Amino acid sequence: MKGLILSGGKGTRLRPFTYTGAKQLVPVANKPVLFYAIEDLVEAGIREIGIVVGDTGEQVRAAVGDGARFGARVSYIEQDAPRGIAHGIKIARDFIGGDKFVLFLGDNFIRDGIAPQVAAFRDQTMNAQIILYRMSDPGAMGVAVLDGDRRVTQVIEKPKQFVSPYAVIGIYMFDSNVFEAVNAIQPSARGELEITDTIQYLIDHKFNVRAHLLEGWWIDTGKMSDILEANRLVLDVLDSKNEGQVDAASRIEGRVVLQKGAVVVNSTIRGPAIIGERTRIENAFVGPYTSIHHDCIVRNCEIEHSVVLESSQIVDAPARVADSLIGRNVQVGRADGHTKTLRMMIGDFSKVGL
Ligand code: G1P
Repeated sequence: MKGLILSGGKGTRLRPFTYTGAKQLVPVANKPVLFYAIEDLVEAGIREIGIVVGDTGEQVRAAVGDGARFGARVSYIEQDAPRGIAHGIKIARDFIGGDKFVLFLGDNFIRDGIAPQVAAFRDQTMNAQIILYRMSDPGAMGVAVLDGDRRVTQVIEKPKQFVSPYAVIGIYMFDSNVFEAVNAIQPSARGELEITDTIQYLIDHKFNVRAHLLEGWWIDTGKMSDILEANRLVLDVLDSKNEGQVDAASRIEGRVVLQKGAVVVNSTIRGPAIIGERTRIENAFVGPYTSIHHDCIVRNCEIEHSVVLESSQIVDAPARVADSLIGRNVQVGRADGHTKTLRMMIGDFSKVGL
């Protein structure tokens, strides 16, 4: 089997980070979301992986490379514009050939990997397998209706009325019959070739479409609150590891990962937390559910339940930083001079709580 990961799209809901960066490269517990998808495929025995890229293709290539570090062979497929998930399949025809494959949306994230589902799909005679996640209100997703035998009878994109509690998550398995479907369907009202229409085509043409109901958590990291939540969920299952340096005046409490070259001076870090490579924490408190990426400085301040991207500095912040997502190369600090002055240079679409 092969793997096909979609890593295009504009990531409008994650602005401002996604003005300069691919949404699939936003880190969760200091690792890009996209890497978890690659690791899930490799763990399921899939080593030949195609990644569909768009405007942010250069960054994705720079981050993933040829896949050797994941034990995979990665090739790239260019998509000229975000024309829908099914369009991503269509342009991957040469890469997929006649093989079965897993389609993985690069911003989707699940706890337990996909190895059992891939094994079942490999061995059985299904033409497609979708993965469902039970939600009280799945209206913002594709939604599946099942018969008693877990056969999928209908799939509807973002239904306005409640039809079923089963959201279709962004991990799908297909055999090559899917190409008949993606070539037959027409763009939807939002101008995209929809994956839900593709699945419905397979159902209508009597292909065997089955569903697997997910038990662990699933998250679509497309929004800021989802990034903080994904970060929390991953930090909750991370084991402690210290590859950095901690001085005698500091305290490390609970599960904390210090990556290579991290330095902690006269500070408390209360896990679960991760401190990135070459990041320096000095005279500071880092509270639970915080990920600080590489080459950052946190000095004379307190931070908790936050994600900080690479090369940022939080120095002398006058109040505790909490529930925050801080981008790359950001400087947060106290304004010089008037104590009541706030001095800011903040990018478009940013949000600041004072
Ligand atoms: C897309 C699909 C939808 C699916 C979802 C999973 O939605 O169209 O069927 O449930 O991904 O993340 P979109 O992110 O385009 O709104």
